[in-house]
Amino acid sequence: MKNDKILIVGACGQIGVELTLALRNVYGSDNVIATDIRNEHPLLKGTGPYYSLNALDAVSMHELVKKEGITQLYLLVALLSATGEKDPKHTWDINMESLLQVLDLGVQEKLSKIYWPSSIAVFGPTTPTTDTPQKTIIEPRTVYGVSKYAGELWCQYYNQRWGLDVRSLRYPGLISWKSEPGGGTTDYAVEIYHEALKHQKYTCFLSENTYLPMMYMDDAIRGTIGLMEAPADKLKTRMAYNLAAMSFSPKEIAASIQKHIPDFTIDYNPDFRQAIADGWPKSIDDAAARADWGWKNDFDLDKMTADMLLHLKEKMMQVA
Ligand code: SER
Repeated sequence: MKNDKILIVGACGQIGVELTLALRNVYGSDNVIATDIRNEHPLLKGTGPYYSLNALDAVSMHELVKKEGITQLYLLVALLSATGEKDPKHTWDINMESLLQVLDLGVQEKLSKIYWPSSIAVFGPTTPTTDTPQKTIIEPRTVYGVSKYAGELWCQYYNQRWGLDVRSLRYPGLISWKSEPGGGTTDYAVEIYHEALKHQKYTCFLSENTYLPMMYMDDAIRGTIGLMEAPADKLKTRMAYNLAAMSFSPKEIAASIQKHIPDFTIDYNPDFRQAIADGWPKSIDDAAARADWGWKNDFDLDKMTADMLLHLKEKMMQVA
């Protein structure tokens, strides 16, 4: 672990910011190189090396891997479910080309490990909706889900064909206060906290009883590093692991917020994202992750609400 040098591609996204900071704590700041096509996220500034990199620029990525002596690569670039539907072909290109390029680079440069996130979006309306198992019917209906499922199969293929150690998790909706979400169907569960503090009211783009699997970012980061540090022989699947923490509806998250902000009100105005949510599981069975490499979540809905409101309030006071 001490000799590892990590490259993060897409370090300024919702997962990237927190994962970069966490990996810098574990591996040392100089051993975690952050890159993104965007400007460096304010929270990353001064915490370690940063390069501007287009994830589809294979030549520049290859040069950087060689120059920095990279041994592990985290590819976090993706267009998510809601944004993806606006330009399906472009979404496929970004999500797939970046992955295939990284998998080839991994084989060529003999990288020791690669991480690439998958999502509950691989599941579709024909999947069992409650406690969705690791192995089940998978017929995604969004281009994001199609790209994630195809990507899982490619990861498994490169593992079997070339021995590449590529690992993946099917994240549920991720809720965070440090970095902003972008373009997902589960983003309402972040927006709602911001609006509760700012305006004490929120209009939700999903209907009140839409249950979805969700997770606090602290758990997602711990799970990601846990999977990456697990001994390779413990991993019984080379598709992505189901990962779960909680499941709630807009009505339930609103009730959790009302325990802290009694005047908070919510109303509902479902848009095109309702159909996406309706095609996804309500809850996930992650027994395989728990058994194979010891995954365990820490946050439930009320614990997450207390933490989110505390940190967002502090952040708003700093800005004011
Ligand atoms: N949070 C993602 C989305 O809503 C699911 O992986 O698109």
